[in-house]
Amino acid sequence: MSTNQRLLEGKVAIVTGGASGIGAETVRLFVENGASVVVADVQDELGHHLATSIGLVDKVSYCHCDIRDEKQVEETVAFALDKYGSLDIMFSNAGIAGSLSFNMLDLDLNDFDNTMAVNLRGAAACIKHAARVMVARRTRGSIICTGSVAGSVGIGAVGGVSYTASKHGLLGLVRSACGQLGGYGIRVNSVSPYIVATPLVCKTLDVEASEVERAGVVGSNLQGIALKPIHVAEAALFLASHQSAYISGQDLAVDGGFLAVNRGIELSLATLKT
Ligand SMILES: NC(=O)c1ccc[n+]([C@@H]2O[C@H](COP(=O)([O-])OP(=O)(O)OC[C@H]3O[C@@H](n4cnc5c(N)ncnc54)[C@H](O)[C@@H]3O)[C@@H](O)[C@H]2O)c1
Repeated sequence: MSTNQRLLEGKVAIVTGGASGIGAETVRLFVENGASVVVADVQDELGHHLATSIGLVDKVSYCHCDIRDEKQVEETVAFALDKYGSLDIMFSNAGIAGSLSFNMLDLDLNDFDNTMAVNLRGAAACIKHAARVMVARRTRGSIICTGSVAGSVGIGAVGGVSYTASKHGLLGLVRSACGQLGGYGIRVNSVSPYIVATPLVCKTLDVEASEVERAGVVGSNLQGIALKPIHVAEAALFLASHQSAYISGQDLAVDGGFLAVNRGIELSLATLKT
């Protein structure tokens, strides 16, 4: 990539959940595009390793941050300001799968609380503290959250009850934040992936990445292409950059058309022909 194509030259970003999967890929892409990035995560060894493996020691730093703890989120934002002098982009991406149970009758409310604490409350803390410094410093920043196609369809699609509810809630959070923060020139959007073979999915299902990708392709609308972390990272880059300068309050599905196409109707009609 030539220098004049770098979309985030001079920008400062925080990527939560940046040590692994979609977050790690986004850290690499943001740095490649000229940004300085704080990798915020609870996996310290992995986070430090990523920061050093990128090879640009001044451009990437790791900061331990459990997003369930508001104080740690506030401290991570302060760390970014101290280290790099500003905050232009908050990619609130950290998330957990929670229980895969679709069973409402046996809903585990401890799992529900824990999933909400990371996926929804944690994201709220990230938006709040990023927005506070952006407003105070008059930074027309970009805040992006990682949602999921599970934020737009009900249980049974791609997540359990807790996960699905948390990602539905996230869309409401993004739209609410967009409403107030637009008054300060701050944009707030989300990216919503379909199934990506990251540790979150592989560990939860206890299967290899290749099996997740095979299953993903079968269930997707876009045949022959497995969704990779880089596809989601590129959507985040678009929403972080000036290329999306007038886009706010949107949920950008990175799903090959999964949400737009109702395979259920197709399958129902197919039964009429048999
Ligand atoms: N992989 C998929 O199929 C898929 C699909 C849709 C949405 N998503 C979303 O993408 C995001 C990234 O997940 P991924 O698939 O890259 O998984 P991943 O497990 O590779 O990455 C998630 C990261 O979040 C971190 N994390 C978890 N809890 C945290 C906490 N309390 N504080 C700070 N960091 C924490 C983990 O340590 C990990 O590094 C999540 O929000 C997930 O819900 C994933």
